[in-house]
Amino acid sequence: MKKIKKIAVMTSGGDAPGMNPFIRAVVRYGLDKDLEVFGIEEGYKGLIKNQFKYMDFDSVCNIIQQGGTILKTARSKEFMTHEGRVKAAQNLREMGIEALICCGGNGSYAGLYEFANKDTGVWDGLVIGAPGTIDNDIIGTDYTIGFDTAVNTAVEAIDKLRDTGDAHSRHFIVEVMGRHSGDIAKAVGVASGARYIATPETKTDIGAIVETIGRHGHDIIVIAEGDEIGGADKLAKILQPHLDAAENGDKEAEFRVCILGHVQRGGSPSARDRILAHDMGVASVDAVLAGETLKAVSSRCGELLLTATLVEKQAVAA
Ligand code: F6P
Repeated sequence: MKKIKKIAVMTSGGDAPGMNPFIRAVVRYGLDKDLEVFGIEEGYKGLIKNQFKYMDFDSVCNIIQQGGTILKTARSKEFMTHEGRVKAAQNLREMGIEALICCGGNGSYAGLYEFANKDTGVWDGLVIGAPGTIDNDIIGTDYTIGFDTAVNTAVEAIDKLRDTGDAHSRHFIVEVMGRHSGDIAKAVGVASGARYIATPETKTDIGAIVETIGRHGHDIIVIAEGDEIGGADKLAKILQPHLDAAENGDKEAEFRVCILGHVQRGGSPSARDRILAHDMGVASVDAVLAGETLKAVSSRCGELLLTATLVEKQAVAA
């Protein structure tokens, strides 16, 4: 097997706390393995626009504790076109890059597959994905980089809401991120002692919520943004009349809504996310050195392994 010499790393899709430790691990471990490492700014967008950056030891200094991503990220419409992918492949060839490592979510994985699959792909280099998204919604891995930090951020915020909720005897409906997945809501709900957790995976039971909260004055309800009800504002509108009419309920009780939104995407990555990102960065470099392609680094039962997630996703979509 021919030893590869040049690799590139990029972050793509929604940013997630831990992307910086991931980049750091790829760069530093890659350099240790005598590879030349390039960073691509703004994900697929930068791949098309030729935004390559030579990475050395110092370019990843002092970033392990920073949220966001020093390489920036984007969602690229142009990469969804054949012409866009051809341009990106041409740029990689001109730079002599033989392997591309991408940390991102489901859309980023689908992009890697489109780009380099053996039948309709336009690039013959190696591609490896690593799961970077707060949503924890990637097939094949128990945890994604950023999930743990996002959960901790939301729990910290809810602890504060509890103080004011208690002072005013108000219920809080807290909306957390998760477009198609209730993983953040479930973890946050349990860790913050929520009275009810509404997720896209289960039908939200309004009767059960009314039954439970009618007797209390300062409950927390956690709802995922992707829940079929349509978010915290809509849930509050549905619940308020039920509460007003509750025969044995607290007639004074009222709701306040708090949408945590993008706050969950920021902040210093937790130790757990840093370690996961580090280990996945190292495993990504090992994967390309071993000639692996069209695979994703995944964490299952505490072990890191390569899964066929990129291909599986396509099968699911097809
Ligand atoms: O996929 C991660 C995520 O944070 C989702 O939870 C959320 O629905 C989405 O990204 C928001 O995307 P954007 O930052 O483009 O508004």
